[in-house]
Amino acid sequence: MSDTAKPRPGFATRAIHLGHDPYAGTGDVVPPIHVGATFAFPTVEDGSARFAGEQAGFVYARVGNPTTALLEARMADLEGGEAALATASGMGATTSLLWTLLQAGDEVIADKTLYGCTFGFFNHGLARFGVKITHLDLTDPANLEAALSPATRLVYFESPANPNMRLVDIAAISAIARKHGAVTVVDNTYCTPYLQRPIELGADFVVHSATKYLGGHGDLLAGVIVGPKEILDRVRFQGIKDMTGAVLSSQDAHLVLRGLKTLALRMDRHCQSAQVLAEMLASHPKVAAVHYPGLASFPQLALAKRQMSQPGGMIAFELKGGIAAGRRFMNALKIVVRAVSLGSTESLAQHPASMTHSFYTPEERAEHLISEGLVRLSVGLEDAADLQADLEQALERA
Ligand SMILES: Cc1ncc(COP(=O)(O)O)c(C=O)c1O
Repeated sequence: MSDTAKPRPGFATRAIHLGHDPYAGTGDVVPPIHVGATFAFPTVEDGSARFAGEQAGFVYARVGNPTTALLEARMADLEGGEAALATASGMGATTSLLWTLLQAGDEVIADKTLYGCTFGFFNHGLARFGVKITHLDLTDPANLEAALSPATRLVYFESPANPNMRLVDIAAISAIARKHGAVTVVDNTYCTPYLQRPIELGADFVVHSATKYLGGHGDLLAGVIVGPKEILDRVRFQGIKDMTGAVLSSQDAHLVLRGLKTLALRMDRHCQSAQVLAEMLASHPKVAAVHYPGLASFPQLALAKRQMSQPGGMIAFELKGGIAAGRRFMNALKIVVRAVSLGSTESLAQHPASMTHSFYTPEERAEHLISEGLVRLSVGLEDAADLQADLEQALERA
């Protein structure tokens, strides 16, 4: 069989093998960690050619290193994009991309619900430099169609959105944005490419907090951008090199590469356990509502089935007793850890009204669709029966 006729290996195989030949060089089965800050040029002419981008090879670790390059090759492939760029955090991914793409006078249209620090970057960062930020309910694509203007350069959203699990139709929004000359950026942190691939649905860029499921063990901070190579080269040589300096260390790139090897396995288990817990919560008398794309009651179930291969490991649920019940529930948890972040081996719960969104007024929380009794649960890899028992005893006390 010729090479071109070979079937493409599956997701897990590519996550483990892509871009590394264990028989080459020193025979490392596991890719080595390259720690150097700088790289030698065989001659001054080679140095010039590398600076001009005319010769392949590394220059200085702020613009690339062999360990991060392998992570980038794997992430581009797994997301179905042309190229990828690893960054020091999820915020490093978003800020490096947007500082490169935008200028004063541009408009960003973003969904109403966003991770809080992304919201902060848009409204306290970009807005101070002449970029207009408009928040819309992007769950209805008609809202975008009506709001786009010639200044709209970029459309940004999460799906599912953090923390309330609203979904945005990636294909519909990307098509509308493209028709009007705007690019679409999707934060795919909640799903990972194992569950959802926005670029294959028409988005231009994907950003990730690799701190979450991609790393998978809660022991690193990292981010990734996936998109067209020509633009990511600009993000590498302007956004990261000159503006944010948000460079991923090779040690952390190694940990994300290690996380990717078990991503498929872990995501299957996160999804399985989350389904069990979501069903239990949905039938519990102290729970007013459960937002989980695997429940028949989920209002956007058809969209979930269209763009996600499984419903994911994140659940949002609302307690009937509001903020006080939320606090009692959180304090009663014994196995699930009271902590922000998500996508880790440990189950993590946070109460937005007490934690991430405590600086909003109750009216502002309502405006951003975050109810007082909302709890965000990141379902970990513990035994589902233990997690269920822990949630049940905490609900008794809520
Ligand atoms: C959806 C989402 N995007 C981006 C980020 C930012 O990622 P990081 O903490 O790696 O900077 C987070 C962090 O919680 C997140 O939940």
